[in-house]
Amino acid sequence: MSKNFYITTPIYYPSGKPHMGHAYSSIIADIFARFKRIEGYNVLFLTGTDEHGQKIQKEAEKNKKDPQIFCDELSSTFKSLTKTLNLSNDDFIRTTESRHFKSVNEIWNRLVKSGDIYLDKYSGWYSVSDEAFYDDDEIEDKDGKKISRLSGSSVEWVEENSYFFKLSAWQDKLLEYYKKNKDFILPLSRRNEVVSFVEKGLKDLSISRTSFSWGIPVPTNNDHVIYVWLDALTNYISALNFPDTNDRKFRNFWPADVHIIGKDILRFHAIYWPAFLFAAELPLPKRIFGHGWILSDEKKMSKSLGNILDPIQIITKYGVDQLRYYLVKEVSLGNDGSISMENLKNCINNDLANNYGNLCQRVFSFVKKNCNNKIPKANNLKEVDLKLIGNIKSSVPSLINLINKQDLNSYLKMIVSFSFEANKYFNDSEPWTYKMRDPERMNTILYTIIEQIKNISILLNPIIPNSTQTVLETLNISQDKFSIENVLKDNIFNHNQELKNLDILFKKIENDN
Ligand code: MSP
Repeated sequence: MSKNFYITTPIYYPSGKPHMGHAYSSIIADIFARFKRIEGYNVLFLTGTDEHGQKIQKEAEKNKKDPQIFCDELSSTFKSLTKTLNLSNDDFIRTTESRHFKSVNEIWNRLVKSGDIYLDKYSGWYSVSDEAFYDDDEIEDKDGKKISRLSGSSVEWVEENSYFFKLSAWQDKLLEYYKKNKDFILPLSRRNEVVSFVEKGLKDLSISRTSFSWGIPVPTNNDHVIYVWLDALTNYISALNFPDTNDRKFRNFWPADVHIIGKDILRFHAIYWPAFLFAAELPLPKRIFGHGWILSDEKKMSKSLGNILDPIQIITKYGVDQLRYYLVKEVSLGNDGSISMENLKNCINNDLANNYGNLCQRVFSFVKKNCNNKIPKANNLKEVDLKLIGNIKSSVPSLINLINKQDLNSYLKMIVSFSFEANKYFNDSEPWTYKMRDPERMNTILYTIIEQIKNISILLNPIIPNSTQTVLETLNISQDKFSIENVLKDNIFNHNQELKNLDILFKKIENDN
């Protein structure tokens, strides 16, 4: 049975500073990658930068830089963001790398071979900011300017020679595929959007440009550069050493298990990409998951109000786990969600400091004081103890199922409730009252609660990797033991070893902070 799992983020335009939207796509994908690793899968997690096209060329010109130098500089900002966000990506692809050129060339050649490419003239609307072609009925007037009704970005009229991809020829096959593979596009609302768009009829797609040069040249006609989306989407297989389809990476990881993307780039991933792959005779990814937007309503987030949420600033001030946790908690994955500083602080205080943080801190300091700082052994677990630990273990299949459906919010909710339960168990069991009269009972309670802290920490590890690692290492559990298998196993502790020291896990945020 194959235990491989391939997950990707969108590759980001290095046209400006990374913002919360980029951080969000990446954090979400990282959480799934981490979970699959602790579930025992051999995971490949890919992210990177999308460096060609008119938008980047214009941005480079504006900055009076050679586009390659411009990309080198900004791509490294995105690369360092992977560290700041504590991403566990296995690779970082840049579309200016030679491995990617090779792969895009092969895709182009395959599309030529399948008879899907022809030369014509494109005349229509183009948005440089979205790098997208729009139909007349997708355009509206705003303040005397033409904009895309879908994205709100301004469009310009383009007339140039262009190679076209016979997208229309794939319409029926796409519809049939969506029908047969009900969870190819998730959430369902996005799937319906795509299906009704395709049902309305697909037009052939312009896949080369001649009015600028920053891109991968069309192999047989260097006056054209390949449309940046055909170029960019191919990154997902370039990283697997395509065109070498016999390569171990390609064989193990293609088709991808899930492409995590934002809903704004759904059309490219759920229509164009599958059609290109059909034509290239390659298998389709198993799932496209389109998350919603983090809202930054001008009124809610403005410089004058001082509440713009910059991921790097938040991380510097409060910590990376705090941001990761907050984004998962606050924004229902798949829907749009508003975030605010006020809610971030409340979340850090209530969920992290008061709940999980407090649980660990109070239990560990009790053990330090009363048990020579060693994890006590259990004697005669009572029903209440067995129930506490049993609940979480028997929930493991449902938890895995939630992750497989990308239902991250329900997953987190369940773990948070286990943490509440554990705090309640500690209060209700009153281990301090047994110290003199029944030390064995006290030990059993402590063992039980530590067992539960271990389980909660492993399950929270994909979301808040740093703090859970600290907690587990306090219990002398090394990283190679962070696994779902060890949630199911009892007593993986060394009872002779002292606990490490645990500093404050999550600092409470005061109101003026
Ligand atoms: N380069 C393309 C993707 C090519 S993938 C083959 C691109 N890049 S992007 O930098 O503009 O955006 C990347 C991701 O950030 C998208 O998934 C987009 O949805 C996400 N976000 C950008 N702003 C966002 C929010 N405000 N909220 C959530 N995510 C949004 O598109």
